[in-house]
Amino acid sequence: MTARDLNGTVDDATLREVVRLACRAPSVHNTQPWRWRIDGARLELHVDRSRQLTVADPDGRDLLISCGAALHHAAVAAAGLGVPAHVVRFPDASDPDHLATLTLAPGSRTPRALAELHALEQRRTDRRRFTSWPIPDERLAKLAASVEHHDVHVLPLTDVSVRFRVELLISRAMTLQDGDEALGEEQRRWIDHSRSDGVPSDRVPDVDVYPSHRRSRFSPPPSQDSRHQLVESTDGLLAICTEKDDRTGWLEAGEALSGLWLHATTDGLSVVPLSQVIEVAETRVALRHEVFGALVAPQILLRIGWQEIARSELEPTPRRPVEDVLLP
Ligand SMILES: Cc1cc2nc3c(=O)[nH]c(=O)nc-3n(C[C@H](O)[C@H](O)[C@H](O)COP(=O)(O)O)c2cc1C
Repeated sequence: MTARDLNGTVDDATLREVVRLACRAPSVHNTQPWRWRIDGARLELHVDRSRQLTVADPDGRDLLISCGAALHHAAVAAAGLGVPAHVVRFPDASDPDHLATLTLAPGSRTPRALAELHALEQRRTDRRRFTSWPIPDERLAKLAASVEHHDVHVLPLTDVSVRFRVELLISRAMTLQDGDEALGEEQRRWIDHSRSDGVPSDRVPDVDVYPSHRRSRFSPPPSQDSRHQLVESTDGLLAICTEKDDRTGWLEAGEALSGLWLHATTDGLSVVPLSQVIEVAETRVALRHEVFGALVAPQILLRIGWQEIARSELEPTPRRPVEDVLLP
């Protein structure tokens, strides 16, 4: 079967393949909080609230960012398979959990669409330590500029005093979360949650390799002395911010996250999200006011770096089968 059947519509196998590829999107703790409905040549994206992290993410920000990433992945997959999508966000005012409808139609497969689809399949969250090669400011600026999406602003954090303040806030967020038992319990539940979701424990950095560092939220707390090293001075830091701090902004931040990550992948750069500083209300407010002058709302921070060339490629993390995410 081909993407286009004889009537010029889109066949079911192609629609399912778009859903499968959309589900390769990054999501907080690999919760995959989405459901899809196939309706003719349309795909509906719905949020799956049963997969929300109710302790870490009571407002649903990470939830909607994850769904936004899946929405962008779906559009990339559709274009790469030769059935580009027209996207309508929040199409049903009476159903806020219906996040988007994509209408697919046969079209041309541009080289750019094919390259993005390739990046989608190559993308991983690789928490292994980056090389010590600094990311040049121009490279970071170029990556930030690669995302043009509605009211989203991607801001490189290169100024030394800004970085210092941001690193302190990241450290403060981790300290506050370390003291929260319910949150720790929720996080532990999503490590090796099942064979098809959650963060596999072999993707959690080996703390023995970095005894004085804490490279990600999943490692045990470091000593107080090493907290300033959570982000290496050579790491690139980007903030994805939005004008509106609401569901629309969160969904768009997720779309931008996906777009940026695919660009970075094509460019040979590694991306690791840092969402804790946004999850914790105190540090989120401080970040917004002290670093961004209350002009925009930060939605997620990203560490950007290079992985060593000789390193093995990571296997993809698991995903639920398409059947499990399809709504009747
Ligand atoms: C909204 C959001 C927040 C995330 N926060 C973190 C984080 O704080 N630390 C981290 O190591 N990974 C974070 N991730 C990455 C996910 O853990 C990752 O996407 C998921 O485990 C699936 O793995 P994959 O990206 O390799 O497919 C986040 C992803 C999203 C979409």
